[in-house]
Amino acid sequence: MLIRPEAEADFAGVAAVNNAAFGTENEAHLIDLIRQSDLYVPELSLVALEGDTVMGHIMFSYMTLESADGDLPILDLAPLAVHPDWQNRGIGSALVNHGLGLVERRGEPLVLVEGIPSYYPRFGFERASPHGITPPSPAIPDEAFMVKLLPSCTPAYRGRVRYPPAFYAAGTVGP
Ligand SMILES: CC(C)(COP(=O)(O)OP(=O)(O)OC[C@H]1O[C@@H](n2cnc3c(N)ncnc32)[C@H](O)[C@@H]1OP(=O)(O)O)[C@@H](O)C(=O)NCCC(=O)NCCS
Repeated sequence: MLIRPEAEADFAGVAAVNNAAFGTENEAHLIDLIRQSDLYVPELSLVALEGDTVMGHIMFSYMTLESADGDLPILDLAPLAVHPDWQNRGIGSALVNHGLGLVERRGEPLVLVEGIPSYYPRFGFERASPHGITPPSPAIPDEAFMVKLLPSCTPAYRGRVRYPPAFYAAGTVGP
């Protein structure tokens, strides 16, 4: 397996993996909208490959933390998908760990995720609310709204998170 940043030739494979993993086209739509925005970080949209076949994909992109000092850019992990044919073989974990390593080397303060409460704690994610980081809507379950704090984090990183319009347009917010 090879993990590397996505290239344009991978886009169809990335969409296919997300459609198959989520059973909806919402996440593939979200990925397209993020790619078209200035919140896209090409080197943090990673594919896991076997030959030319995309087995899994992870994306980190920017959203906003409304802090007491003003708006701060923070990275969000979304979406993460492994094709059902290749799940439970460590590919999702490899993508998360690889991505978190890149993110930490960029000096980012934290990574946010709205996701499966039983999956992400193994990577160091924990509930965001005890750290003073709150979701954009009370409809998002507290246990699903998680953060991984990185060494560069400072006490300034507290406040309410604002999702970019892409997340609402794609229908990927909340339960
Ligand atoms: C979640 C997902 C990315 C995990 O990828 P993967 O390559 O199968 O995961 P790994 O092999 O690295 O890890 C397997 C572990 O994840 C757990 N896991 C997988 N899917 C899970 C789920 N939906 N809920 C809870 N745990 C899950 C497995 O039980 C296993 O746990 P164990 O290590 O304690 O036995 C993949 O199952 C997937 O694409 N699911 C559908 C899309 C999705 O839900 N994405 C995440 C949205 S937040």
